[in-house]
Amino acid sequence: MKHLTDIKSLSKTAILELFGSAEKISASNITTTKEWHPGKSAIALFFENSTRTLASFQLACQRLGVDVTALNVANSSTQKGETIKDTVLTLNAMQPDIFIVRHHENHSQDKIVDWIGQDTSVINAGDGSNQHPTQGLLDLFTIWQHKQQFSDLNVTIIGDIKHSRVANSLIDGLKIMQTKEVVVYGPDAFIPEHLNAQQASNMDSALLDADVVVMLRIQKERLPKDFNIDFNQWHLHYGLNTENLKAAKPDAIVMHPGPMNRGIEITDEVADGKQSVILQQVKNGVLMRQAIINRMLEL
Ligand code: CP
Repeated sequence: MKHLTDIKSLSKTAILELFGSAEKISASNITTTKEWHPGKSAIALFFENSTRTLASFQLACQRLGVDVTALNVANSSTQKGETIKDTVLTLNAMQPDIFIVRHHENHSQDKIVDWIGQDTSVINAGDGSNQHPTQGLLDLFTIWQHKQQFSDLNVTIIGDIKHSRVANSLIDGLKIMQTKEVVVYGPDAFIPEHLNAQQASNMDSALLDADVVVMLRIQKERLPKDFNIDFNQWHLHYGLNTENLKAAKPDAIVMHPGPMNRGIEITDEVADGKQSVILQQVKNGVLMRQAIINRMLEL
């Protein structure tokens, strides 16, 4: 794996290998993994806000012995008018081994691959509403840890599907893993026209017999500034609570990529309840990113 810009570039076998690698890393001592990649370096270039993706990439690098620099874009020369291309070419001249990039424009990481050639790896940490492949992989890994298979699973994804790069990568990943059924539910205006999933007509049918329930926030940053949303109505019709969750299987797991908007797409009781694996997703974010970076640097 030279680059990771889209989860669709991975085979089922490659994803299963990453699960195995993440499990091996989880069982390893950090003082051991810190010895794996001396002299390697990464630059994290985040043009959009992040808490868990940026922090987990930084920790993943540090725990593999990879020197990591996170450029503070707000204080960088992009504020003086430097283009993203010049910024990337400038940083690439410093010879990092990996770029980890988040950008609001769809497919921006593909452009970066074209600009810098094959010497430096590029990891997509989220491009617009298009892809968030490392989130998709950590989500798949979390499901795998609980269910150990995909072929008999009903996975339901609820909320703002249309603007969610998390949903795109997860749906693509679930298809690669040959998941039995992927169901989406949300307001029609928040469901894309072309989607590789079944669309439910109401919350109860969306949740019925689900093995995995994934809740998504409204991606306000991708909506027109004057787009009005009634959050109370959203919660009433598309929010997960302890009552409607009963339609899912008793051992269903509840996931959310974060950041959560408690009281809108999910109640406190569910987010903090015994079926929630949300913090496990965060923990797996570090492990899966270690597995990805390790794979890239091994080649
Ligand atoms: N899931 C996710 O991408 O979260 P952050 O925006 O905090 O990185």
